[in-house]
Amino acid sequence: MPISISCINDLSHTRHKIEPYKQVHISYLHDLYIRTKNQFAMNIVMTGATAGIGAEALKHFTNLQNTKIYVGARGTGRALPERTEIISLDLSSLKSVRFFSDKVKESLGQDKIDVLILNAGIQATDNQLRSEEGFELTFATNHLAHYLLVRLLEPNLAKGGRVVVTTSDAHDPDVIPFGPKTLNIGDLAYPTETSPKGMAFYAATKLLNMLTARALLTKLEADKHIRVVAYNPGLTGDTSLMGKQSAFLQMIVSAIRPLFYVISIFKPAFFMGTAKRSGEALAELALGKVALPDGKIYASLVRGKLTFPDPSQLAQNDAIIDLLWKESAKMVGLPE
Ligand SMILES: NC(=O)c1ccc[n+]([C@@H]2O[C@H](COP(=O)([O-])OP(=O)(O)OC[C@H]3O[C@@H](n4cnc5c(N)ncnc54)[C@H](OP(=O)(O)O)[C@@H]3O)[C@@H](O)[C@H]2O)c1
Repeated sequence: MPISISCINDLSHTRHKIEPYKQVHISYLHDLYIRTKNQFAMNIVMTGATAGIGAEALKHFTNLQNTKIYVGARGTGRALPERTEIISLDLSSLKSVRFFSDKVKESLGQDKIDVLILNAGIQATDNQLRSEEGFELTFATNHLAHYLLVRLLEPNLAKGGRVVVTTSDAHDPDVIPFGPKTLNIGDLAYPTETSPKGMAFYAATKLLNMLTARALLTKLEADKHIRVVAYNPGLTGDTSLMGKQSAFLQMIVSAIRPLFYVISIFKPAFFMGTAKRSGEALAELALGKVALPDGKIYASLVRGKLTFPDPSQLAQNDAIIDLLWKESAKMVGLPE
């Protein structure tokens, strides 16, 4: 008969865990004991922490005591706050993802990852751009690299930890008109004439993020009590998602903000938020400061407030979730 205890849910105050008042077994206590002997009370691994929403979220993590943050970043010469370890990661290369995962594991030693945040994303204007392994660039960066990363790091996730995947409300055609109504994975990996383009292509990759989060829910929650959250930051004007913003562009964004505000009275998804608030909400979810209602996986920031709607109809289709998992496994060369 396993011994059990109840835990609270805010990862920023305790080393761990879990859903409020859920039962945790003795194996977890053993795991906790081993890990408490190590240096850091909490380990966070994060992509997309060098700009925009992720950089704002990072500020909330670096304020925490005894927390180490592993940031995957491309290029060199990145200056990030104390207790942040920068490890080279270019999501447009699966080879680089494997390198990053190896380095994180090496640095962790016996320790575990309490929070994994898959936040990086791009919106390439042209679906003819390719990743190192020849996949379409936005597909490879937003979806395939993160899929591989979570598969590689899965054994190192702490029981009762948390995985947050940044998706978008653009994944849902009922909210954003160019959201995907159908899904053809091959058409995204290797676009043809009939593949989606521009914003529609980006939106389809955000559906893949949502589907991956839903697959992870099934695979991680039961065994390891890992909470999976798919997060939509909502339209956020002051990031570099559509390219680095010049001073002129920043001025334009500020000027059109009031217009979006008026539109958002009728269409809430068109509210233009700030990276500061979107990053804060990402941090709140990652640290368990905001708990999702039971049975929910999707947290959507609407007019600055976290809401918990159902994902799109396609994202609730178990056959599609399964298909994406298996197809992605083949693409990255892992077993299903
Ligand atoms: N902004 C919005 O309106 C909005 C709305 C809904 C969802 N989202 C989602 O929110 C997330 C963050 O976007 P953001 O708006 O904050 O955009 P951002 O300011 O452009 O930040 C994107 C982050 O991803 C990183 N990244 C991009 N390509 C990479 C690569 N090949 N390898 C490693 N890192 C890479 C960037 O690193 P660098 O510093 O090297 O560029 C940066 O840290 C994305 O998943 C996006 O899809 C954004």
